[in-house]
Amino acid sequence: MKGLILSGGKGTRLRPLTYTSAKQLVPVANKPVLFYGIEAIAEAGITEIGIVVGDTQAEIRAAVGDGSRWGVRVSYIEQDAPRGLAHAVKISRPFIGDEPFVMYLGDNLLNRGITRFVEEFERERPAAQILLAHVPDPQMFGVAQLSEGRVVRLVEKPKEPIGDLALVGVYMFGPEVFTSVDRISPSFRNELEITDAIQDLIDRGLTVRPHIVSGWWKDTGKLEDMLEANRLILETFERRIDGTVDAESRVEGKVVIEAGAVIERSIVRGPAVIGRNAKIVQAYVGPFTSIMNDVDIRDSEIEHSIVLEGSSVHDLASRVADSLIGRNVRIYRAPVKPSAHRFMLGDNSEVGIRW
Ligand code: TTP
Repeated sequence: MKGLILSGGKGTRLRPLTYTSAKQLVPVANKPVLFYGIEAIAEAGITEIGIVVGDTQAEIRAAVGDGSRWGVRVSYIEQDAPRGLAHAVKISRPFIGDEPFVMYLGDNLLNRGITRFVEEFERERPAAQILLAHVPDPQMFGVAQLSEGRVVRLVEKPKEPIGDLALVGVYMFGPEVFTSVDRISPSFRNELEITDAIQDLIDRGLTVRPHIVSGWWKDTGKLEDMLEANRLILETFERRIDGTVDAESRVEGKVVIEAGAVIERSIVRGPAVIGRNAKIVQAYVGPFTSIMNDVDIRDSEIEHSIVLEGSSVHDLASRVADSLIGRNVRIYRAPVKPSAHRFMLGDNSEVGIRW
């Protein structure tokens, strides 16, 4: 059994961050999303992992390396352009060979991992097994229709309701799928769709099994989901304080403060994580906030947000909330007063707020 992680793509929904870096490397609770996927696959006992990469491959190779950190062997598979999930499968044939494999979308997070899913597939050995979740807005997803414990039809973003079981970003396939990815044609958006490949397996009379997720699942491809994933992961944290907290500060609840971080005259209310060498001075860091390494927050309040390396937030009169702030961003006080702050900023941005 092999693992295939898809880490190419365009990442349009997370622009401008994705102009300069891979969305799979955006940290959730200060760890790149992609690492959670690698861990889940390694935990399921799979040691050979292929990562499909595109324009951002240099950054992904630098972050992941050869996989030895997780006790796995990582190979990289170059996709010339984001031509669809089924195209990623097609070009991975030389890496996969004739083995069954689990395909994991590199921007997805599952809190219970995939071990049970993999075990079930190995026991039953269908042509494919797909992970499904009940969702309130099925018209936004690929949706599966089931009958007698099998998947009988897949519809991409259904206009007529056919149920609420959406495809989650984890799939298991036997080598039968390679015939299907060769048989399908590009969709209206000019991509080879994985739903079409799975439908082709069904049409060929092969078995596609459903597996409904028991815990939560998040596709971090857009801001709200990224923040929600951050919230869910931070909630699982245990309190640990390795940095310095002065006598005038209060650190409440599940908070991780990494070594070298300094908290002065501030309140940090968990769940939250403060990265290495970050400085929090006369500030409030509220629940569900991840502050990465070398961030500087001063005379400001922030909550339910993610701030990436090297950024600073200084002297703001209003609280920053629900924001994803890129690397080396500077937000500071400027002359005319604003009434609210709501940000989604790319790497190296600089914002001066009028006072
Ligand atoms: P998506 O989030 O569906 O696509 P995207 O990355 O292009 O993002 P957006 O919709 O915001 O433009 O992709 C799911 C995962 O699969 C993601 O980690 C990127 C990866 N992927 C590839 O590796 N190759 C591809 O051809 C496509 C479409 C996606």
